[in-house]
Amino acid sequence: MCVPLFLAILISSVAAQSGHPEFDPPFEEIVLQEGSLQNIECVAKGELPLVYKWYNQSDAEVTSDANRDPFTRPSENGFSLIFAEVKRSHAGLYSCSATNKYGTASKPYDITVNTTSGKVRISLCLLTSGAGQII
Ligand SMILES: *[C@@H]1O[C@H](CO)[C@@H](O)[C@H](O)[C@H]1NC(C)=O
Ligand SMILES: *[C@@H]1O[C@H](CO)[C@@H](O)[C@H](O)[C@H]1NC(C)=O
Repeated sequence: MCVPLFLAILISSVAAQSGHPEFDPPFEEIVLQEGSLQNIECVAKGELPLVYKWYNQSDAEVTSDANRDPFTRPSENGFSLIFAEVKRSHAGLYSCSATNKYGTASKPYDITVNTTSGKVRISLCLLTSGAGQII
């Protein structure tokens, strides 16, 4: 009975030591205030160099073009998603991925926009449709 548990612990500690990219916590819910400037930093653990990417609600890569909102910028420890001015239409499920020579890890960010008339929330179905495109 103990063997599978022991093996599971062994495998997870080996995975943790391998340098594979990892996110802790693996998922985040964020509330942004409509009209504000926001910077969401994505930081992974794992062997450097790590290459980061941010994806928007339609799974398109967010570029560093500051004429668009949001856009991305390298940050001190990772990679930031920047909203110059948060809008209701920015609500939804975003993701950040980090890649190194061992592989890629992705972290979903559930972004809710707080407006004067209440919260805008795009309902999620992480376990069904979302998981396929994120992982
Ligand atoms: C959301 O809005 C409410 C009132 O409109 C405010 O009290 C709350 O602090 C806001 N939350 C954030 C994260 O801005
Ligand atoms: C995601 O980004 C793509 C490319 O910039 C853009 O065409 C698309 O409208 C964005 N999706 C949403 C929901 O804003």
